[in-house]
Amino acid sequence: MTGRLRHFSISGVSVLDFLYRVVRPLLFRLDPEEAHELVLGTLPVAGMLARLANLTPDPRLACAVGPLTFAGPVALAAGLDKDGVGIRTWEALGFGAVEVGTVTGLAQKGNPRPRLFRLKEQHALVNRMGFNNNGAIALAATLQRLRDSGRWPKVPVGANLGKSKLVENDNAVADYLNSLKALKDRADYFVVNVSSPNTPGLRALQEKEPLQRLLAAAVPEAGRTPVFLKLAPDLEDDALAEAVGVAIESGCAGIIATNTTLSRPGDTARAEQYGGLSGAPLRALARAKIRVALQATGGRIPVIGVGGVACADDVAELLAMGCAATQLYTALIYEGPGLVARIHRDLAARLPVPAGK
Ligand SMILES: Cc1cc2nc3c(=O)[nH]c(=O)nc-3n(C[C@H](O)[C@H](O)[C@H](O)COP(=O)(O)O)c2cc1C
Repeated sequence: MTGRLRHFSISGVSVLDFLYRVVRPLLFRLDPEEAHELVLGTLPVAGMLARLANLTPDPRLACAVGPLTFAGPVALAAGLDKDGVGIRTWEALGFGAVEVGTVTGLAQKGNPRPRLFRLKEQHALVNRMGFNNNGAIALAATLQRLRDSGRWPKVPVGANLGKSKLVENDNAVADYLNSLKALKDRADYFVVNVSSPNTPGLRALQEKEPLQRLLAAAVPEAGRTPVFLKLAPDLEDDALAEAVGVAIESGCAGIIATNTTLSRPGDTARAEQYGGLSGAPLRALARAKIRVALQATGGRIPVIGVGGVACADDVAELLAMGCAATQLYTALIYEGPGLVARIHRDLAARLPVPAGK
């Protein structure tokens, strides 16, 4: 990258940061979900601005995540863009990979509102969205349109899959297979999500036998597309290690740890009781569980670290622990759309200067 372009990319981040400092107080006056919907509506414009600012990560930050190559170690976590409406914008904002979903076999409305809560002082969120999404078939059409138009991102796009609320756990395998069939060859990777806390019974699918049954069917159905398993931070260490073992035996390409927590760590005890907590107060618990996951994999498959990631130090720490890459969601709400490019820029600045420069 030429010096001039690099300078422009740094100012692009500053512009995004400045704009968000102005807009955030207004957004934070709105109900969190209304603010979310408003922001999703502006994604095409945000994407255009971001493309002008050239926020693509420094190529030296590209990282191997099993068979995939992330353009940088900070990827978008699932849940922000359930139906894949802003994939090109996430790429333009500098995410190293983009995970859309969770989608379910059946389209569903999710839980009654209000179901998303800010804990402003703690830089956290509590959500009990309950997989509101337009269903796997609608996502498949969106992804196919992107492919047909030749605008498929250069970064990997993953589809995160969950169980439809109306489907009993006994029929969960068929439900996940329906989603996989609809999305086959359309995503760059799949995530079997058995760890969201807001679908009754879902987390029971993390137990050994149900998980074996699910992955034994899902991995072959995905064909050549790699399948990751996303786990909860509320699993005891033994159960987490066991689930990682099942993932490896079943041919999963990697682990994503962690989802939101039902616990209320730190000073969040008085926060909204029902739902999963994410953001800064999740960080320590997620770190502890990521460590267990890393130990259980023994380097056989990669681990993507998620939970409270908010700055370059957080990412560097997870990479030093052995994670192949990281994801974030909540910090983006608090820090704004310049965050990812800023983290990647800070990480690139820490790389040794190549000889002769
Ligand atoms: C509002 C909201 C909705 C989420 N929805 C999903 C989801 O649909 N599927 C999923 O696997 N994770 C979902 N997550 C969890 C995130 O992907 C991530 O694992 C978790 O928030 C921890 O990362 P963070 O602290 O950076 O937010 C959601 C998180 C939030 C805050």
